[in-house]
Amino acid sequence: MLVFRGQDLSEDDQLRLADVFGGGALRSRPDEKRAETTTNARAIGLVTNIREDGKPIGSLPDGELFFHYDGAFIDEPYRATLLYAVEVPDAGGHTLFADMYRAFDALDPDTRDKLRGRTCLHYFDHVSYAKRADPDPDLSTVRYARHPAVVAHPHTGRPALYVSPLQTARFEGMDGEESAALLTELFAYTENADLIYEHVWQKGDLVIWDNWGTAHARTDFPADQTRLLRRSIVRGQALSEAAF
Ligand SMILES: [Fe+2]
Repeated sequence: MLVFRGQDLSEDDQLRLADVFGGGALRSRPDEKRAETTTNARAIGLVTNIREDGKPIGSLPDGELFFHYDGAFIDEPYRATLLYAVEVPDAGGHTLFADMYRAFDALDPDTRDKLRGRTCLHYFDHVSYAKRADPDPDLSTVRYARHPAVVAHPHTGRPALYVSPLQTARFEGMDGEESAALLTELFAYTENADLIYEHVWQKGDLVIWDNWGTAHARTDFPADQTRLLRRSIVRGQALSEAAF
């Protein structure tokens, strides 16, 4: 991940920067339900608790958000996410970034054996932000996708653990109790300070991260304070299982 402090970026600047990483690829988030508040509404999303007429103008408005990967619920998860801080609360609303390459490196051989050849179901219901994923979601009402439990970074081949408490429902083809227990074991990374960088936002921060090998989460923040970040995404690709 990259952090640039003290930036003064227009929306067009941010999109040009996304192009550097995306090679001109489509940057829009196809499921974005935000109001059309900007000229770049399809390509720039707002992550904010600002409301107009009681309705959030962006997405992911309030409070804590569990660890997840952006776009794990589509077949071609995003290559990268760019977040630019326009307004931040006095306290809280930090973003935690977990290094999922090192999370994989830390797994013992027995656990790695259990993950080999395994695929997980990921979904996002746009409702729950701080609740562990349901093991058996109603797939007629959510967006979902399946990915290997250990993915290979498409450019380097490096293995990354690819499970998250917010969006990973279950291991496919595994007994339900066994799947839930294994996920609980793997989610220990969310408590492992050695793997996590906590970004305390300042206005003007631009943060860019590798969304294939980095999981992220948000800490709680006061409901009466404004938090406004602009997000753009870089189109990704299907992820295959790492060799390990
Ligand atoms: Fe996210």
